[in-house]
Amino acid sequence: MRWDPGQYLRFGDARARPFTDLMARVPAHAPGQGPDLVVDLGCGPGNLTRSLSERWPGADVLGVDSSAEMVERAMADGQGPRLRFEVADLREWEADRPVDVLTSNATLQWVPDHLHLLPRLVSAVRPGGWLALQVPGNFGGPTHTVLADLLQEPRWRMRLSGVLVESPSSEEPETYLSALVALGCSADVWETTYLQVLEGPDAIVSWMTGTGLRPVLGVLDDTEQEEFLAAYRERVSPAYPQQDFGTVLPYRRIFAVAQRQTARSTQFDTQ
Ligand SMILES: C[S@@+](CC[C@H](N)C(=O)[O-])C[C@H]1O[C@@H](n2cnc3c(N)ncnc32)[C@H](O)[C@@H]1O
Repeated sequence: MRWDPGQYLRFGDARARPFTDLMARVPAHAPGQGPDLVVDLGCGPGNLTRSLSERWPGADVLGVDSSAEMVERAMADGQGPRLRFEVADLREWEADRPVDVLTSNATLQWVPDHLHLLPRLVSAVRPGGWLALQVPGNFGGPTHTVLADLLQEPRWRMRLSGVLVESPSSEEPETYLSALVALGCSADVWETTYLQVLEGPDAIVSWMTGTGLRPVLGVLDDTEQEEFLAAYRERVSPAYPQQDFGTVLPYRRIFAVAQRQTARSTQFDTQ
Protein backbone atom coordinates (compact mmCIF):
# COMPACT_ATOMS: atom_id res chain seq x y z
CA MET A 1 0.00 0.00 0.00
CA ARG A 2 1.46 3.36 -1.07
CA TRP A 3 0.94 6.50 0.97
CA ASP A 4 0.84 10.02 -0.43
CA PRO A 5 2.35 12.32 2.24
CA GLY A 6 1.17 15.48 0.45
CA GLN A 7 -2.45 14.34 0.34
CA TYR A 8 -2.24 13.10 3.94
CA LEU A 9 -0.92 16.47 5.13
CA ARG A 10 -3.64 18.41 3.33
CA PHE A 11 -5.68 18.09 6.51
CA GLY A 12 -2.64 18.03 8.76
CA ASP A 13 -4.08 20.27 11.47
CA ALA A 14 -7.28 18.25 11.81
CA ARG A 15 -5.35 14.98 11.88
CA ALA A 16 -2.95 16.35 14.50
CA ARG A 17 -5.61 17.19 17.08
CA PRO A 18 -6.06 13.67 18.53
CA PHE A 19 -2.29 13.28 18.79
CA THR A 20 -2.06 16.49 20.81
CA ASP A 21 -4.83 15.30 23.11
CA LEU A 22 -3.21 11.88 23.43
CA MET A 23 0.23 13.17 24.35
CA ALA A 24 -1.22 15.69 26.80
CA ARG A 25 -2.04 12.68 29.01
CA VAL A 26 1.61 11.61 29.19
CA PRO A 27 2.73 13.64 32.18
CA ALA A 28 5.45 16.21 32.11
CA HIS A 29 8.73 15.13 33.65
CA ALA A 30 10.65 16.94 36.34
CA PRO A 31 13.53 19.08 35.02
CA GLY A 32 16.51 16.89 34.25
CA GLN A 33 14.41 13.73 34.42
CA GLY A 34 12.89 13.79 30.95
CA PRO A 35 12.75 10.70 28.80
CA ASP A 36 15.92 9.31 27.27
CA LEU A 37 14.25 7.51 24.34
CA VAL A 38 10.94 8.40 22.67
CA VAL A 39 9.65 6.29 19.77
CA ASP A 40 6.78 7.00 17.36
CA LEU A 41 5.65 3.84 15.59
CA GLY A 42 3.91 4.63 12.29
CA CYS A 43 5.29 8.16 12.29
CA GLY A 44 3.94 9.02 8.82
CA PRO A 45 5.31 12.29 7.45
CA GLY A 46 7.08 12.98 10.75
CA ASN A 47 5.48 16.31 11.66
CA LEU A 48 4.06 14.93 14.90
CA THR A 49 7.26 13.05 15.75
CA ARG A 50 9.08 16.35 15.38
CA SER A 51 6.76 17.89 17.99
CA LEU A 52 7.93 15.19 20.44
CA SER A 53 11.50 16.30 19.86
CA GLU A 54 10.47 19.87 20.65
CA ARG A 55 8.70 18.75 23.83
CA TRP A 56 11.63 16.64 25.01
CA PRO A 57 14.78 18.22 23.52
CA GLY A 58 17.01 16.08 25.74
CA ALA A 59 15.59 12.80 24.40
CA ASP A 60 16.52 10.66 21.44
CA VAL A 61 13.39 10.66 19.30
CA LEU A 62 12.90 7.98 16.67
CA GLY A 63 10.13 7.82 14.07
CA VAL A 64 9.50 4.42 12.47
CA ASP A 65 7.28 3.81 9.46
CA SER A 66 6.94 1.04 6.88
CA SER A 67 6.23 3.52 4.07
CA ALA A 68 9.36 4.69 2.25
CA GLU A 69 7.36 7.66 0.91
CA MET A 70 6.37 8.77 4.40
CA VAL A 71 9.88 8.39 5.83
CA GLU A 72 11.37 10.25 2.88
CA ARG A 73 8.93 13.11 3.56
CA ALA A 74 9.83 13.06 7.26
CA MET A 75 13.56 13.15 6.53
CA ALA A 76 13.11 16.00 4.04
CA ASP A 77 12.18 18.28 6.93
CA GLY A 78 15.49 17.44 8.57
CA GLN A 79 16.94 14.97 11.01
CA GLY A 80 19.47 15.68 13.72
CA PRO A 81 21.60 13.87 16.25
CA ARG A 82 18.53 13.49 18.50
CA LEU A 83 15.77 13.10 15.88
CA ARG A 84 15.87 10.21 13.43
CA PHE A 85 13.51 8.41 11.11
CA GLU A 86 13.75 4.89 9.75
CA VAL A 87 11.82 2.59 7.46
CA ALA A 88 10.71 -0.51 9.35
CA ASP A 89 7.63 -2.60 9.96
CA LEU A 90 6.51 -1.95 13.52
CA ARG A 91 5.58 -5.64 13.85
CA GLU A 92 9.24 -6.54 13.64
CA TRP A 93 10.91 -3.40 14.93
CA GLU A 94 12.89 -3.80 18.17
CA ALA A 95 14.29 -1.10 20.40
CA ASP A 96 18.01 -1.23 21.20
CA ARG A 97 17.27 -0.09 24.75
CA PRO A 98 14.19 0.39 26.93
CA VAL A 99 11.83 3.06 25.62
CA ASP A 100 10.59 5.79 27.97
CA VAL A 101 7.70 6.99 25.83
CA LEU A 102 6.36 4.75 23.05
CA THR A 103 3.57 6.19 20.95
CA SER A 104 1.61 5.03 17.95
CA ASN A 105 -0.93 7.44 16.55
CA ALA A 106 -3.53 6.56 13.91
CA THR A 107 -1.50 3.54 12.86
CA LEU A 108 -2.38 0.30 14.67
CA GLN A 109 -5.70 0.08 12.81
CA TRP A 110 -3.61 -0.89 9.76
CA VAL A 111 -2.06 -3.83 11.59
CA PRO A 112 -4.38 -6.86 11.60
CA ASP A 113 -4.85 -8.40 15.07
CA HIS A 114 -2.89 -5.55 16.60
CA LEU A 115 -4.12 -6.50 20.09
CA HIS A 116 -1.64 -9.37 19.89
CA LEU A 117 1.13 -6.82 19.49
CA LEU A 118 0.42 -5.10 22.79
CA PRO A 119 2.58 -7.47 24.90
CA ARG A 120 5.57 -6.69 22.67
CA LEU A 121 4.90 -2.96 22.76
CA VAL A 122 4.52 -2.93 26.54
CA SER A 123 7.66 -4.98 27.02
CA ALA A 124 9.61 -2.46 24.92
CA VAL A 125 8.74 0.22 27.50
CA ARG A 126 10.88 0.50 30.60
CA PRO A 127 9.07 -0.02 33.92
CA GLY A 128 7.51 3.32 34.81
CA GLY A 129 7.53 4.37 31.15
CA TRP A 130 4.57 5.17 28.92
CA LEU A 131 2.72 3.63 26.00
CA ALA A 132 0.31 6.01 24.24
CA LEU A 133 -1.84 4.88 21.35
CA GLN A 134 -4.73 6.28 19.37
CA VAL A 135 -6.87 4.53 16.76
CA PRO A 136 -10.02 5.46 14.84
CA GLY A 137 -13.40 4.40 16.17
CA ASN A 138 -15.44 5.54 13.19
CA PHE A 139 -15.49 2.46 11.00
CA GLY A 140 -19.28 2.41 11.37
CA GLY A 141 -19.57 5.87 9.75
CA PRO A 142 -20.63 6.41 6.13
CA THR A 143 -17.05 7.17 5.07
CA HIS A 144 -16.29 3.51 5.74
CA THR A 145 -19.63 1.72 5.28
CA VAL A 146 -20.07 3.26 1.81
CA LEU A 147 -16.57 2.09 0.92
CA ALA A 148 -17.26 -1.43 2.23
CA ASP A 149 -20.54 -1.62 0.26
CA LEU A 150 -18.86 -0.45 -2.92
CA LEU A 151 -16.15 -3.07 -2.55
CA GLN A 152 -18.85 -5.75 -2.44
CA GLU A 153 -20.32 -4.77 -5.79
CA PRO A 154 -19.54 -7.14 -8.67
CA ARG A 155 -17.72 -4.37 -10.61
CA TRP A 156 -15.11 -4.07 -7.84
CA ARG A 157 -15.28 -7.29 -5.85
CA MET A 158 -13.10 -9.38 -8.14
CA ARG A 159 -10.84 -6.52 -9.12
CA LEU A 160 -10.15 -5.57 -5.50
CA SER A 161 -10.40 -8.85 -3.65
CA GLY A 162 -6.97 -8.39 -2.02
CA VAL A 163 -7.94 -4.97 -0.73
CA LEU A 164 -10.46 -6.41 1.69
CA VAL A 165 -7.59 -8.02 3.57
CA GLU A 166 -6.07 -4.58 4.14
CA SER A 167 -9.19 -2.96 5.57
CA PRO A 168 -8.29 -1.11 8.76
CA SER A 169 -10.01 -2.01 12.01
CA SER A 170 -9.90 -1.25 15.70
CA GLU A 171 -11.32 -2.53 18.98
CA GLU A 172 -13.67 -0.87 21.43
CA PRO A 173 -12.11 1.16 24.29
CA GLU A 174 -12.97 -1.49 26.92
CA THR A 175 -10.92 -4.04 25.02
CA TYR A 176 -7.79 -1.88 25.08
CA LEU A 177 -8.31 -1.16 28.77
CA SER A 178 -8.63 -4.85 29.66
CA ALA A 179 -5.66 -5.82 27.53
CA LEU A 180 -3.37 -3.16 29.01
CA VAL A 181 -4.39 -3.87 32.60
CA ALA A 182 -3.82 -7.59 31.99
CA LEU A 183 -0.30 -6.66 30.91
CA GLY A 184 0.37 -5.05 34.26
CA CYS A 185 -0.16 -1.44 33.22
CA SER A 186 -2.13 1.37 34.77
CA ALA A 187 -4.26 2.55 31.90
CA ASP A 188 -6.25 5.63 31.03
CA VAL A 189 -8.57 4.86 28.11
CA TRP A 190 -11.17 7.15 26.59
CA GLU A 191 -12.93 8.09 23.39
CA THR A 192 -13.80 11.40 21.76
CA THR A 193 -15.87 12.31 18.75
CA TYR A 194 -14.50 15.44 17.14
CA LEU A 195 -16.62 17.40 14.70
CA GLN A 196 -13.91 18.14 12.18
CA VAL A 197 -14.85 21.02 9.91
CA LEU A 198 -13.14 20.37 6.61
CA GLU A 199 -12.62 23.22 4.17
CA GLY A 200 -12.82 23.15 0.40
CA PRO A 201 -14.91 21.29 -2.16
CA ASP A 202 -15.08 17.51 -2.20
CA ALA A 203 -13.63 17.52 1.30
CA ILE A 204 -14.74 14.06 2.42
CA VAL A 205 -13.39 12.32 -0.67
CA SER A 206 -10.18 14.30 -0.39
CA TRP A 207 -9.86 13.36 3.29
CA MET A 208 -10.40 9.69 2.54
CA THR A 209 -8.01 9.82 -0.39
CA GLY A 210 -5.29 10.54 2.19
CA THR A 211 -6.12 7.52 4.38
CA GLY A 212 -8.96 5.00 4.09
CA LEU A 213 -9.00 4.88 0.29
CA ARG A 214 -5.24 4.27 0.00
CA PRO A 215 -5.47 0.46 -0.30
CA VAL A 216 -8.03 0.77 -3.11
CA LEU A 217 -6.25 3.51 -5.01
CA GLY A 218 -3.00 1.61 -4.78
CA VAL A 219 -4.44 -1.23 -6.85
CA LEU A 220 -6.39 0.68 -9.51
CA ASP A 221 -5.01 2.36 -12.62
CA ASP A 222 -5.79 6.03 -13.29
CA THR A 223 -9.02 5.40 -15.23
CA GLU A 224 -10.31 2.93 -12.66
CA GLN A 225 -9.44 5.33 -9.86
CA GLU A 226 -11.57 8.02 -11.48
CA GLU A 227 -14.47 5.62 -11.88
CA PHE A 228 -14.17 4.36 -8.32
CA LEU A 229 -13.90 7.86 -6.83
CA ALA A 230 -16.94 9.03 -8.82
CA ALA A 231 -19.03 6.15 -7.48
CA TYR A 232 -17.74 6.71 -3.95
CA ARG A 233 -18.38 10.46 -4.14
CA GLU A 234 -21.94 9.99 -5.37
CA ARG A 235 -22.82 7.74 -2.43
CA VAL A 236 -20.88 9.32 0.40
CA SER A 237 -21.56 13.02 -0.28
CA PRO A 238 -25.24 13.05 0.81
CA ALA A 239 -24.16 11.90 4.27
CA TYR A 240 -21.84 14.92 4.66
CA PRO A 241 -23.50 17.97 3.10
CA GLN A 242 -21.22 20.90 2.43
CA GLN A 243 -22.30 23.88 4.54
CA ASP A 244 -21.35 27.55 4.35
CA PHE A 245 -18.61 27.04 6.94
CA GLY A 246 -17.32 23.71 5.62
CA THR A 247 -18.11 20.01 5.68
CA VAL A 248 -18.55 18.35 9.07
CA LEU A 249 -16.88 15.00 9.59
CA PRO A 250 -17.75 13.29 12.90
CA TYR A 251 -14.43 11.74 13.83
CA ARG A 252 -14.55 9.22 16.66
CA ARG A 253 -11.17 8.29 18.07
CA ILE A 254 -10.09 5.86 20.80
CA PHE A 255 -7.17 6.68 23.08
CA ALA A 256 -5.11 4.66 25.53
CA VAL A 257 -2.29 5.92 27.70
CA ALA A 258 -0.69 3.20 29.80
CA GLN A 259 2.09 3.32 32.33
CA ARG A 260 4.09 0.18 32.74
CA GLN A 261 4.11 -0.65 36.40
CA THR A 262 7.23 -0.65 38.49
CA ALA A 263 7.38 -2.85 41.57
CA ARG A 264 6.52 0.22 43.67
CA SER A 265 3.72 1.73 41.49
CA THR A 266 0.32 1.58 43.08
CA GLN A 267 -1.83 3.92 41.06
CA PHE A 268 -2.08 5.77 37.80
CA ASP A 269 0.22 8.73 38.17
CA THR A 270 -0.86 11.74 36.14
CA GLN A 271 -0.71 15.44 36.71
C1 LIG B 1 -2.72 7.40 9.11
S1 LIG B 1 -0.98 7.40 9.04
C2 LIG B 1 -0.56 8.11 10.65
C3 LIG B 1 0.75 8.85 10.60
C4 LIG B 1 1.08 9.62 11.90
N1 LIG B 1 1.24 8.76 13.03
C5 LIG B 1 0.02 10.66 12.18
O1 LIG B 1 -0.69 10.51 13.18
O2 LIG B 1 -0.11 11.60 11.41
C6 LIG B 1 -0.63 5.69 9.29
C7 LIG B 1 0.84 5.37 9.12
O3 LIG B 1 1.06 4.04 9.61
C8 LIG B 1 2.06 3.46 8.82
N2 LIG B 1 2.01 2.00 8.99
C9 LIG B 1 0.97 1.18 8.68
N3 LIG B 1 1.30 -0.09 8.97
C10 LIG B 1 2.56 -0.06 9.48
C11 LIG B 1 3.45 -1.06 9.96
N4 LIG B 1 3.11 -2.36 9.97
N5 LIG B 1 4.67 -0.68 10.39
C12 LIG B 1 5.03 0.64 10.39
N6 LIG B 1 4.23 1.62 9.94
C13 LIG B 1 3.01 1.29 9.50
C14 LIG B 1 1.73 3.94 7.43
O4 LIG B 1 2.80 3.79 6.54
C15 LIG B 1 1.33 5.39 7.68
O5 LIG B 1 2.41 6.26 7.56
